[in-house]
Amino acid sequence: MKASVLFLQNGKEHVMVVKVLSVTSKKIIGARTFSLQSYKTFSARDTFGHGTHAASIISGREVIDASYYGIAKGIARGGVPSTRIAAYKACHDINCFDIDVLSAFDHAIADGVDIISVSIARPKLVELTFDPIAIGAFHAMEKGILTVNAAGNDGPLLSSITNYAPWTLTVAASDTDRRIVGKLRLGNHEEHVGNAINPFSSRVKPVPLVYGKELPSNCSEIKKRKCLPECLETSFINQKVIMCDEHRYLGEITASGAFGFIVPISLQKNYSKIMSFPSIALPTKSLDSVKAYKKNAKVPEVHILKSETIKNPGAPYVASDSARGPSIFMPDIIKPDVIAPGVEILAAFSPTVPQYGYEWNKSPMKFSILSGTSIACPHVVAAAAFVKSFHPEWSPSAIKSALMTTASELNASLYPEGEFAYGSGQIDPLKATNPGLVYETSTEEYLRVWCNISRSRGSVTPANASCPHTLTPKEINYPSMAVQLDMKKTFTVSFPRTVTNVGHTNSTYVAVIEGNHSNLSINVEPNTLRFTTLNQKMKFVVTIRGKRMNPSSIKRLALLWTDGVHRVRSPIVLHTMGTSNGEKAINPSMFHMIFVILMIMILMC
Ligand SMILES: *[C@@H]1O[C@H](CO)[C@@H](O)[C@H](O)[C@H]1NC(C)=O
Ligand SMILES: *[C@@H]1O[C@H](CO)[C@@H](O)[C@H](O)[C@H]1NC(C)=O
Ligand SMILES: *[C@@H]1O[C@H](CO)[C@@H](O)[C@H](O)[C@H]1NC(C)=O
Ligand SMILES: *[C@@H]1O[C@H](CO)[C@@H](O)[C@H](O)[C@H]1NC(C)=O
Ligand SMILES: *[C@@H]1O[C@H](CO)[C@@H](O)[C@H](O)[C@H]1NC(C)=O
Ligand SMILES: *[C@@H]1O[C@H](CO)[C@@H](O)[C@H](O)[C@H]1NC(C)=O
Ligand SMILES: *[C@@H]1O[C@H](CO)[C@@H](O)[C@H](O)[C@H]1NC(C)=O
Ligand SMILES: *[C@@H]1O[C@H](CO)[C@@H](O)[C@H](O)[C@H]1NC(C)=O
Repeated sequence: MKASVLFLQNGKEHVMVVKVLSVTSKKIIGARTFSLQSYKTFSARDTFGHGTHAASIISGREVIDASYYGIAKGIARGGVPSTRIAAYKACHDINCFDIDVLSAFDHAIADGVDIISVSIARPKLVELTFDPIAIGAFHAMEKGILTVNAAGNDGPLLSSITNYAPWTLTVAASDTDRRIVGKLRLGNHEEHVGNAINPFSSRVKPVPLVYGKELPSNCSEIKKRKCLPECLETSFINQKVIMCDEHRYLGEITASGAFGFIVPISLQKNYSKIMSFPSIALPTKSLDSVKAYKKNAKVPEVHILKSETIKNPGAPYVASDSARGPSIFMPDIIKPDVIAPGVEILAAFSPTVPQYGYEWNKSPMKFSILSGTSIACPHVVAAAAFVKSFHPEWSPSAIKSALMTTASELNASLYPEGEFAYGSGQIDPLKATNPGLVYETSTEEYLRVWCNISRSRGSVTPANASCPHTLTPKEINYPSMAVQLDMKKTFTVSFPRTVTNVGHTNSTYVAVIEGNHSNLSINVEPNTLRFTTLNQKMKFVVTIRGKRMNPSSIKRLALLWTDGVHRVRSPIVLHTMGTSNGEKAINPSMFHMIFVILMIMILMC
């Protein structure tokens, strides 16, 4: 059995780990690497840690006292420990080739996996016909396999999402009710809290503090404040904590021999990360206090303290860098579809991968803390596996619908982009096992919408598809509803839908429209659905009329079907976002931080 393949290392020190895993779990039932570009080696071993982390979120058994150097200590457990993993390594560190991704999909489908988890997002938006994840996931869907994928970490700008295929379940990341924070203590005993995962306190003695502004180089003051690499001087910053007004040059600062650094919180990556040396990202106000202290103290010095966990009552809040919809190529589909935990998540890590080794401790780690939609994705995979274990016969779209229509909505007043940040909301795996009704989408419909989108862009249609009758995205049987409106015109839009009864044999559902629709005329026809058998399908149409909308505006409503027991909720979004300069909404210079390892799982019932 290849149970140990992801964890095996030549060094003797890891033999125990391998033994424990292979004896007690046998979770990895297959591992394969795809490297047609001969990028590196042909090893399926996880040399990055990301795949192990994601796999354990789905499948990990219970581990008591799991932590990262004592941080975030508790019981770690995957969503569905009875699942088994087949790993298909299509990426090598952060490089993924289309040919390898597609090949991985083909093998996974041939191997008969139940659900495919793809924590990969492209940095650039492409049409579905040129997107290996969309194409691979389409083939999987045809064979009854649901593909769950990460939204991407290029947010928070509108339309930063690149995974938008309607046949996949796209996952955004949110924080949880437990955050990890770092602490900084100044020489005057003042303490400041910020973003940091510091496994240790900075020595016994405080460390001298310097500010980039004081760097002796002849750079301009602005450059020095930001600690630009060309301004750094080892002799000046060696073994000191340096404070900078920019957080981008951590690598260079480390290389220059600094003991640690203090930077402002990053708007785009506003959460705590494991760094290669002691650090803390502070809010502006705290940073100003540190600067004032620095200015006035005779011998300015600081302690960077070990990180702690705190309660986070505002959760779930969408991660700052979680990619936002709508997709420029398909603005009539709400993407992402759902959110799940993806900020500061403790999960298993490959002990063969260096943990950005702190000088004083390079021992292998069994756990690490990572963030991003890559981490949110496997949470939803586990939830999908959970639903599938109750309903093995359900189609991919039924499982997807169940997870979407039972999700808890978020407080929209905190998000100007509304559902384009969080989709239908936060998943609720337990409710998703009993959704009452599901929106099932056929291969035929997906193909027809694919043809429509390709043709309207003057591009090629999917292979073999003659597509005599195409459909616009808002016409397919999607569990949420959206339309991009022409802002100059009054409008009438219709969303035809069909629901399938998977609840009680005899049940009557009544339509309720949520949200303030004082200026709109909304009609659900029929507005009562009486089911008399299981798996019975019923059609209805939601028609909305309204006056012209302002540019870049969004109107949010929801359709709720309820029989007194189930709440089957579909958000409805009318928007004029991306109607002008849409393509510019993507910032091409955005740093590509998406992690990668295609990871596929098998369910053993
Ligand atoms: C400093 O200024 C001198 C003379 O203008 C220049 O030759 C040198 O490259 C500068 N050094 C840095 C680090 O910018
Ligand atoms: C970072 O997130 C915290 C809450 O998690 C928020 O209070 C703060 O305003 C954010 N800071 C920035 C710069 O976005
Ligand atoms: C939503 O957020 C707003 C603004 O912070 C707050 O006033 C309101 O109470 C919140 N609503 C709910 C239901 O939490
Ligand atoms: C897309 O579908 C709509 C509705 O069926 C149709 O009116 C339109 O012509 C189609 N567009 C293309 C390019 O096929
Ligand atoms: C495409 O067409 C070829 C030749 O007619 C056929 O063998 C193949 O099965 C078709 N593929 C699909 C996906 O329908
Ligand atoms: C459903 O309703 C029909 C007619 O009202 C009745 O004949 C049938 O027994 C009911 N079935 C169940 C399972 O309650
Ligand atoms: C809906 O909004 C309008 C104007 O914005 C307001 O007058 C009305 O009271 C609101 N209705 C509800 C039910 O909140
Ligand atoms: C309805 O339209 C009026 C006038 O255009 C506007 O002031 C009001 O905010 C609108 N109500 C809603 C709920 O959008």
